Amino acid sequence: MTHTNSLVLTVAERIDDLGDIMRLTLKGEGDLPPFAAGAHIDVQVETPEGPIWRQYSLCGEPGKSDAYHLGILRDPESRGGSVTLHDLMRAGEKLHAEGPRNHFPLAEGATRSILFGGGIGVTPMLAMAWELHRKGQAFTLHYATRSADRTAFLDVIKAAPFRDHIVLHHDDGEGAAPINLARDLPAAEPGCHVYVCGPQGFMDWIISAAECAGYASNVIHREYFSADVDAHGESFEVFCAQSGIAVTVGPDDTIAKSLVKAGIKIDVKCEEGICGTCVTDVLEGEIDHRDKFLTEEEREEGDQICACCSRARGARLVLDI
Ligand code: FES
Repeated sequence: MTHTNSLVLTVAERIDDLGDIMRLTLKGEGDLPPFAAGAHIDVQVETPEGPIWRQYSLCGEPGKSDAYHLGILRDPESRGGSVTLHDLMRAGEKLHAEGPRNHFPLAEGATRSILFGGGIGVTPMLAMAWELHRKGQAFTLHYATRSADRTAFLDVIKAAPFRDHIVLHHDDGEGAAPINLARDLPAAEPGCHVYVCGPQGFMDWIISAAECAGYASNVIHREYFSADVDAHGESFEVFCAQSGIAVTVGPDDTIAKSLVKAGIKIDVKCEEGICGTCVTDVLEGEIDHRDKFLTEEEREEGDQICACCSRARGARLVLDI
């Protein structure tokens, strides 16, 4: 079971960067829990409807425990967490957070790493670049944005000791060529790993190109910031083996919400199948996976479900709760 640190963080600095990205430097009372490249923290955001949790990658240098660094895109199309943080966060403000957690670690034993960060998806890649640089491993970070005037973190990149490993790309082609996967994705070779983070279309494009180029699924690493998850479907029954309680999950309900109504609490954070907080063991029944969190191997094993969005394929699921 993952140990969770509960943190109270203070905004030490806010930088409003290009591309509607706010950069925060967060400090604790003393040293903060260490984190590895790819880790994120869960941040609690107060909204008029109550607190919600959002996940933000740590983009600073792993191993440094004096501060956490986040980059947060103001996204009016999202469910409100980022806009609220942009509106509220100033130096001196406090944030409640949990973590760090890492669902996107660097692979052990890689001989070469190709990192693709689209827009705000560059944040975990910056921490990975620090780690790969420290280890002296071969890597290239491809950082794609719409245009030069939407490209955040340029000062960080210019000052980084690994800046020569970073290739900028702009979709409009002004000042930097767009990503060209025929050129930028090397042929698959043993020990070469691909990492991708960014908007869903960007990720799907890179992942399918890597698969076509012969990369096995276990060397294509991905982290979704958000997902268009459709959690609707036919009604089914969920039986909770430990408590003996059965609930019906209606077409517009989720397992997690139906269980809460029956008095059984399942921890939920992202509510869109990307963070893994709600993963629950399944004892019986076939799962209709709707999440982006579980790996193909975990899906095939069929004994875990993301209760915030996934459903039953048949009439009944038995959960180990
Ligand atoms: S709450 Fe994040 S995956 Fe379910």
